[in-house]
Amino acid sequence: MKVNFTELPNGKNTPLNSPTKVVLLILTLVLLTTIPLYLYNNSLSLLWPSVPPYQSNKSSQPPGMNISDTNSTSLEHKCDIFSGKWIPNPNGPYYTNASNCVIDDRQNCMKFGRPDTAFMKWRWKPDECELPLFDAAQFLELVRGKSMAFVGDSVGRNQMQSLVCLLASVARPVDVTNVQEARFSHWLYTDYNFTLVNLWSTHLVKSQDADPNGFSLNSLMNLYLDQVDDAWAAQIETFDYVIISAGQWFSRPFMYYEKGKLVGCHICNKKNVTDLTRYYGYRKAFGTAFRTLLELQNFKGVTFLRTFSPAHFENGEWNKGGNCVRKRPFTEGEMKFEGYMLDFYVTQMEEFRAAEREGRKKGLKFRLLDTSEAMVLRPDGHPNHYGHWPNENVSIADCVHWCLPGPIDTWNEFLLQMLRMEGDGLIEGKPDQPNV
Ligand SMILES: *[C@@H]1O[C@H](CO)[C@@H](O)[C@H](O)[C@H]1NC(C)=O
Ligand SMILES: *[C@@H]1O[C@H](CO)[C@@H](O)[C@H](O)[C@H]1NC(C)=O
Ligand SMILES: *[C@@H]1O[C@H](CO)[C@@H](O)[C@H](O)[C@H]1NC(C)=O
Ligand SMILES: *[C@@H]1O[C@H](CO)[C@@H](O)[C@H](O)[C@H]1NC(C)=O
Ligand SMILES: *[C@@H]1O[C@H](CO)[C@@H](O)[C@H](O)[C@H]1NC(C)=O
Ligand SMILES: *[C@@H]1O[C@H](CO)[C@@H](O)[C@H](O)[C@H]1NC(C)=O
Ligand SMILES: *[C@@H]1O[C@H](CO)[C@@H](O)[C@H](O)[C@H]1NC(C)=O
Repeated sequence: MKVNFTELPNGKNTPLNSPTKVVLLILTLVLLTTIPLYLYNNSLSLLWPSVPPYQSNKSSQPPGMNISDTNSTSLEHKCDIFSGKWIPNPNGPYYTNASNCVIDDRQNCMKFGRPDTAFMKWRWKPDECELPLFDAAQFLELVRGKSMAFVGDSVGRNQMQSLVCLLASVARPVDVTNVQEARFSHWLYTDYNFTLVNLWSTHLVKSQDADPNGFSLNSLMNLYLDQVDDAWAAQIETFDYVIISAGQWFSRPFMYYEKGKLVGCHICNKKNVTDLTRYYGYRKAFGTAFRTLLELQNFKGVTFLRTFSPAHFENGEWNKGGNCVRKRPFTEGEMKFEGYMLDFYVTQMEEFRAAEREGRKKGLKFRLLDTSEAMVLRPDGHPNHYGHWPNENVSIADCVHWCLPGPIDTWNEFLLQMLRMEGDGLIEGKPDQPNV
């Protein structure tokens, strides 16, 4: 993939109050180079066992992935597909690092020698129904003649690349990226006239370096909370599907601006500036992004909020040896969806619900791609040290992005299911949103 941006998380993290204490952190970004860094947290550790061979060569349906596994009769709109648990799936994964798709080195865990493979052999089982397997041919039929944009940071791009790999068994896109704008990758599935783009925007709103010492992991930025980032907004109007997300980048130091005036800051250490939380900025950024979509004259697309993606640093801070070495999902008892993760989630969810109500009045659809609960349980799904540019210093673990293949592929199973339900007119969003 052409995109050469790298994200550096930084910032302060907050330990979770859970038995296992996993933490999160922050992202920041840097052009053309380096590494993913992050924040982390504390105490458990596991050994890396070696697990056998990684299979290659899958042409279309993954071997053993039996579509008849799918209980289609149980697909009812009442089922909340986002509440459930991970169950073993010996038939996984859908594709390998030898498949016909480009896996970004930074998420290509098998290429860089990740020894265990069990993390690719789980599937999400909703409590009350089955989540159907990904069906590339069906996905492509559903999006024939349509366009889809992933708007957000590198975790959004991570999902888009998963989608390209999942579709690779049926079709490969032509890369029509405008090199002038390499941070926006642009693919065309010619046989389906399906356009897929990644519009990279870390904060959704306008941001600017504001640190006298220049950009660094923890440098100060200005965030203009009521001004959308035109980098995506100027191109979004004609898209049929918009998958929007934002996350770790909101934990760094900021000066927050609204109506051109400084309204406060996040960890700026300035006495005469009101201290506001990271959730303040996160909320306003989503509010502005959704309002932009609601107000675009010709926008008719369906907007999906892909919810907060948790990081899982343990055994130290992100820059002090923190890592993510687990080899299997947490069970519900081991990890609770709480702490900073829940705060980010609830914050975005409130803005989402408001936009959804406004959208209804205008005939615009807002949908939830509610991946957070599932991903909180996947400390085993990150690259850790097994994903980086070829010459990169890998002393810092990536516990933010997700290995490909890996649990992020499930996000696209959800997406396909949403598109199916959209087609059937079944969907009215997630029925009940607990805790929000
Ligand atoms: C592996 O891939 C090659 C080239 O695409 C194909 O010819 C071959 O049939 C595949 N083998 C299997 C077992 O799928
Ligand atoms: C797929 O399902 C068919 C019919 O139920 C069954 O005969 C076959 O053994 C299954 N294949 C696998 C790999 O599970
Ligand atoms: C399909 O789901 C229904 C309802 O959950 C269940 O009763 C039935 O046994 C399932 N069928 C298969 C083949 O799994
Ligand atoms: C795929 O992963 C294997 C290890 O599992 C590695 O030996 C191989 O070089 C990788 N291939 C590519 C194309 O990344
Ligand atoms: C391809 O899809 C775009 C919308 O994404 C549409 O404007 C265009 O007319 C389509 N082209 C063909 C040849 O169907
Ligand atoms: C904060 O106080 C300093 C010193 O009085 C002043 O120079 C600066 O402009 C003030 N900043 C703001 C945002 O008011
Ligand atoms: C790699 O990172 C570690 C830890 O940050 C540092 O000590 C080391 O000097 C770095 N190595 C290179 C070659 O940059």
